[in-house]
Amino acid sequence: MTSSSVDPSSRAFFDAKYRTAEDPWDFAIDPYELGRYRDVMVHVDPDRHRRVFEPGCSIGVLTEMLGGRCEVVDASDLSEVAVQRARRRCAHLPGVTVEVGHLSDPPAHNYELIVLSEVGYYLTEPELERAIEVLTERLTPGGRLIAAHWIGMSADHRLRGHRVHDLLADALPTWVLAHHAVHLDESHDGYRLDVWDRP
Ligand SMILES: C[S@@+](CC[C@H](N)C(=O)[O-])C[C@H]1O[C@@H](n2cnc3c(N)ncnc32)[C@H](O)[C@@H]1O
Repeated sequence: MTSSSVDPSSRAFFDAKYRTAEDPWDFAIDPYELGRYRDVMVHVDPDRHRRVFEPGCSIGVLTEMLGGRCEVVDASDLSEVAVQRARRRCAHLPGVTVEVGHLSDPPAHNYELIVLSEVGYYLTEPELERAIEVLTERLTPGGRLIAAHWIGMSADHRLRGHRVHDLLADALPTWVLAHHAVHLDESHDGYRLDVWDRP
């Protein structure tokens, strides 16, 4: 079975992707991706966001940045291959733990920060709505949700990036939208970055 015939929301699909390339999206080297991570990190406050959950962490580039600033980072990814790479990348950071796991199945902790970066659009609308419910229950009062998603179109995605953020906004009507921006980019289409604080 080729990776193109595998369900693009399955572990097998992502494992196959990571077996064909060490860093399939060039997260560690692409200036666009590194700029996106910098934009995300602007909204991370190490004094307030001590315990962080980052689902869909891939090879751990953003995880490493979070781990450099926050006390505890629990990261996860559906792909075991990606998890191994993220663990290697973050091995020097004692506060970082990386486990295989689905977005809607976080570790049994409460968090001051959850970072949803380029992962929400692999779910269907009902799956994402359920995941948002589960994740937001895990955020402490005053906790922060940062979402960053590419706004282009891919056959691998079930939802567009804007739809992911619109569903988040619909689910969080009483939360404070601390930041909203759409960053356009000629070669990559661009991404939307939204930051909500739980009252
Ligand atoms: C495009 S990468 C994004 C990586 C990283 N968050 C970033 O922004 O650089 C998407 C990652 O999400 C993972 N993934 C896809 N669906 C997932 C799910 N339902 N739960 C957890 N991880 C998932 C994939 O294995 C892949 O590593």
